[in-house]
Amino acid sequence: MSYTYSVVKLFTHQTTILLYLVKHILSVITRYIQLLSAFTGVLFLGGCNLDTRMSTFVTKGPVAETQYDLFMLTVWVTLGIFIAVGGAFAFAIIKFRERPNDDRPMPSQGHGNPLVEIGLIGASILLLVIIAVPTLQGIWYTHDTPEDPESFMSAWYSGEELAEEEAENPLIVKVIGYQWWWAFESPQLGITTANEMVIPAGKVVHLELRSFDVIHSFWLPRIAGKVDLIPGRTNSMWIQAGDNFLRWKEKQGVAGPNEDSPALRAGYAAYLEEEIQNYYYGQCAEYCGDSHARMHFRATVVDNEQFAKWVIDERTGHGTPDGKTWDDWYAAYADNPDSLTGDLNEGLKLFMGRAKCATCHVVKGNPRALGVAGPNLTNVGSRMSIAAGWLNHRREEDGSIDLEKQYDNFYKWIKETDVVKPGNRMWKAGGGGIGELIDENGEPALLTEDETHKLSLYLQSLK
Ligand code: CUA
Repeated sequence: MSYTYSVVKLFTHQTTILLYLVKHILSVITRYIQLLSAFTGVLFLGGCNLDTRMSTFVTKGPVAETQYDLFMLTVWVTLGIFIAVGGAFAFAIIKFRERPNDDRPMPSQGHGNPLVEIGLIGASILLLVIIAVPTLQGIWYTHDTPEDPESFMSAWYSGEELAEEEAENPLIVKVIGYQWWWAFESPQLGITTANEMVIPAGKVVHLELRSFDVIHSFWLPRIAGKVDLIPGRTNSMWIQAGDNFLRWKEKQGVAGPNEDSPALRAGYAAYLEEEIQNYYYGQCAEYCGDSHARMHFRATVVDNEQFAKWVIDERTGHGTPDGKTWDDWYAAYADNPDSLTGDLNEGLKLFMGRAKCATCHVVKGNPRALGVAGPNLTNVGSRMSIAAGWLNHRREEDGSIDLEKQYDNFYKWIKETDVVKPGNRMWKAGGGGIGELIDENGEPALLTEDETHKLSLYLQSLK
């Protein structure tokens, strides 16, 4: 009896100690978790700079501004609801809380007050209408590309080769999503580029969105909200980087809609010059496989002359490194490749030969670089980034290209494509990828350091 008693007592005692320890440890852990979350919270707040290249709070142009206004309206309405409901709740728990020696009678209990219920239903309907009307207006406004005469190609595009029937259309850009990069085609101008779109300042641009493979989503946060690219259908949207003349005047509040003068035009030109941040970041906003998070793009905003020049550069493309005609170069390449010397020629030979780049990439000008499975590389040396915006070489100070960085980026990309962008087809293409190269004996033979170097130099020269 006494033995059993001792055992039970001991057991109870130990359990008490154990419980005490567990409780103590738990409270210590909780305290650390609280402390840690407070710290991480502060760290995250550091990321709350609203004026970044991907901000939806500092918007440019009518589409993003309309969407922002709608967002803020919803914020204010819901904030009002939060304050009203939270306020009533706080009032009730403070006023009716039980106090020590509280001898107040229990407040009258009841439910089903018709006045309150009808009032709440009415208030809900009113708030929904307040949100719904501008929402519908916003959806229609951002869906239909506006007919803005100042955005018609004829009004601003000074380059040549524009079909007459396109004169009264805005610039059209066909956006095609691939795993994991973007093609930007301009059918009116007969050019195709990749990952970096070039758009004229203050002009309406109509986008047609398609996908080559899976669902992607076009998102250029400061310019416009997301629209999906869906296989088998074409979605459309419009964007405009900066206001047009009319909207600018309206915002200034200085002139009527029909007023026009050299001074006003000069003011507007200064606005375009100053107000338009000329480089925007975009991102695929729909999960689309391994490297979805690395499927970025860029939008460079330019003035009319820069745009026309860019079109000419894209249409002209590139000659051979040593100034030969392409026919002569290919004749030499076939008869006596060793006669083509120098790093750039070596790079081009690799591009056309062992590295097989030309099977997947177009380089305008080069009659045999016609592959369409990968990004168009015309003027790739003029782009501010490669690998769909993932490897950057743009200098923040002045927007120029950091050539050393650019070389490093090309080198890195060619050397370890699979590391930079896991899962991509340039590395493994079912036998044709740069990670699957073989020598004449069929043994794996990746590009050597020297080959990677020369190929990088050649790509860098495409500008
Ligand atoms: Cu494309 Cu995510």
